[in-house]
Amino acid sequence: MKVGDVKLVDLPKILDDRGNLTFIQEESHLPFKIERLYWIYDVPGGQVRGGHAYKELYEVIIALSGSFDVVVNDGREEKTFSLNRSYYGLFVPKMIWRGLENFSTNSLALILASAPYDESDYIRSHQEYQRINKLN
Ligand code: TYD
Repeated sequence: MKVGDVKLVDLPKILDDRGNLTFIQEESHLPFKIERLYWIYDVPGGQVRGGHAYKELYEVIIALSGSFDVVVNDGREEKTFSLNRSYYGLFVPKMIWRGLENFSTNSLALILASAPYDESDYIRSHQEYQRINKLN
């Protein structure tokens, strides 16, 4: 997988004077079936989340509230996506190193994941990530 495979997905917006609405439907918006949701919140200023890749997991990351940066890296190239709208989802495929940083106060990150939690799917050492990448 390459940084170029990381994509911003523009989700539907139903604009309404009473308040806007956005939704995700697997068939039309996601290339995987959602098996798990998790969210990251109450992040103290300056803290960084992530710092790993997954062997098989696909994710979509959404800034439901506030803003933060997702820094993705494929061992060759690095790119930063600034998320600050609840109608954008960042699709991050397997085997992409990612970090979440620059969280604003009260930001809320929602992550849609393609599989249940499995610690053995994590690659938590960047050196190990580089080694596996070179084998592929
Ligand atoms: P981790 O995925 O390392 O956090 P992040 O990448 O967002 O910084 O997870 C932190 C801890 O939470 C780790 O001990 C595993 C646990 N965890 C679960 O039990 N279930 C989950 O779905 C997730 C995402 C994490």
